[in-house]
Amino acid sequence: MCGIVAIVGSTPVAPLIVDALKRLEYRGYDSAGVATIESGHLARRRAEGKLINLEKRLRDEPLDGLIGIGHTRWATHGVPNETNAHPHFAKDVAIVHNGIIENFADLRDELVAEGYTFTSQTDTEVVAHLVSRELERGETPEKAAFNALKRLEGAFALAIMFRGDEDLIIGARSGPPLAVGHGHGEMYLGSDAIALSPFTNAITYLEDGDWAVVRRAGMQIFDMNGDPVERRRQKSIGTSFMVDKGNHRHFMEKEIHEQPEVISHTLSHYLDFAEGKAKRESLPFDFAKLDRIAISACGTAYLAGLVSKYWFERYARLPVDIDVASEFRYREMPMPKASAAFFVSQSGETADTLASLRYCRAEGIPIGAIVNVQESTIARESDCVFPTLAGPEIGVASTKAFTCQLSVLAALAVRAASERGTISAQEEKQLVRELSETPRYATQALKLEEQIDRVGRKLSQYKHVLYLGRGTNYPMAVEGALKLKEISYIHAEGYAAGELKHGPIALIDRDMPVIVIAPHDRVFDKTVSNMQEVAARGGKIILITDKEGSRRAGIETFETIVLPDMPEIIAPIVYALPVQMLAYHTAVFMGTDVDQPRNLAKSVTVE
Ligand code: AGP
Repeated sequence: MCGIVAIVGSTPVAPLIVDALKRLEYRGYDSAGVATIESGHLARRRAEGKLINLEKRLRDEPLDGLIGIGHTRWATHGVPNETNAHPHFAKDVAIVHNGIIENFADLRDELVAEGYTFTSQTDTEVVAHLVSRELERGETPEKAAFNALKRLEGAFALAIMFRGDEDLIIGARSGPPLAVGHGHGEMYLGSDAIALSPFTNAITYLEDGDWAVVRRAGMQIFDMNGDPVERRRQKSIGTSFMVDKGNHRHFMEKEIHEQPEVISHTLSHYLDFAEGKAKRESLPFDFAKLDRIAISACGTAYLAGLVSKYWFERYARLPVDIDVASEFRYREMPMPKASAAFFVSQSGETADTLASLRYCRAEGIPIGAIVNVQESTIARESDCVFPTLAGPEIGVASTKAFTCQLSVLAALAVRAASERGTISAQEEKQLVRELSETPRYATQALKLEEQIDRVGRKLSQYKHVLYLGRGTNYPMAVEGALKLKEISYIHAEGYAAGELKHGPIALIDRDMPVIVIAPHDRVFDKTVSNMQEVAARGGKIILITDKEGSRRAGIETFETIVLPDMPEIIAPIVYALPVQMLAYHTAVFMGTDVDQPRNLAKSVTVE
């Protein structure tokens, strides 16, 4: 999604803003720009493509000024070019925006009818003109911004600057996050704490409906009634260090390799390995009294939830309703009183997931958030937070956050089973011991990288790939397909292996590699039958299995990737690594932008 940085500073701000925007690159973007007030006038530089293009513009035509706003744009309205890049101007107003103004067409028509002219195709420019019109009507900048904000429908995080007042930036938030950074004689606005970490870790997050008047001496926050509100000032955690790639080519490669460590860190937060028990932090619900849980998320986070459905239902005998958040939010699912809802999100800002959370809030049921950003909106609006301790995940394709989500959910399933009495103390001890071995098996999985690199080279020759899996390997098949398509742009689909005969088998021919995720578990033999059906039609099978599975498959494969035999409960977590590495190496051969794939954003903060 778009990124916003604004500074009311004491030194030239343009280079500082660009450096801060670099920390937002992970969100995905296609153009960028910065504006300052220079010698009493609004001035800006914008460029299509990556920030290096904007930096070149600024080297050729430097920008002065001690106050400025900057933006990385992920195009929603209008093609990604310099004209549509932010900041947008309207007379004495400069603005940057993250989100979608849903009523922009009506507002634009209203303004055009009054003689206003537009230079871009963006919804954002409408806001600049609305504010400018209020100024022309004699309103102060604060009142002009407030009046304009009240006309907007949709999702927005905004930073607004005014020619004529070099000590004022107005920030506003309705949906996408916006943070205020507290400096010494300087103040900042940013889309998240990571962007502001070079300047400060003293952060105040705006809540939905807040707007802030930010000056060097400090800030005031108001609600949409214009009443002052207080918001907590907090020390942002885990963002003061510089996130870098180390000796890896991509953030994604680094994050794949961090998994044994962060899985261990996460599991130890929820499991007492010495006692062989799941830890019993206090919760706003009692697993023993729940009739069901609802789980909702998007993308890879949804697939983590789908794996956990098998665990909660098998070990804790607890029914799980799960749906992608974009469907959940409109389904109006009845929520029995004896239910709880879990929301899984790396960023904690995904609009659909947040909307689903708010539906459940309105239904009055307890809400748990499994998030990687503990200061995020989803975390702040939940009754309890189950942090994934993956550390900042920069690559757009989720890897370590996913396996940490699985680790949290596996630990919660064991806790639920124990508290519901569906497993004995001995069985709990066994499951905890098995989970404690996950990092060791993950480390062994990473040792397959050289073989997987070779398989990726082969896979990069194909245009379509099918992934198959059963049981907890079914969501892994869908995740494998998602990873491959989102970073290599090869079309891929993940299917329940048992569904093969109900349609997808029509696709099978020698041009359609079929990746089968199948440790030798209770359903392995059924999956072998599916592989025989594929082989009989000339399909090329890439089997990801374990030693016992490779011995028992008895079938000729295009490639077999063999992991160690391991306990069933940890297989989905560990098998994620070869699946991720296969997508990564295929994409590297394809030469795509692995960390920031085209059209994608790290955090989808709009519908
Ligand atoms: C993951 O590889 C994808 N980039 C995407 O599906 C992601 O999982 C989804 O957008 C949800 O994001 P969240 O976890 O931040 O809510």
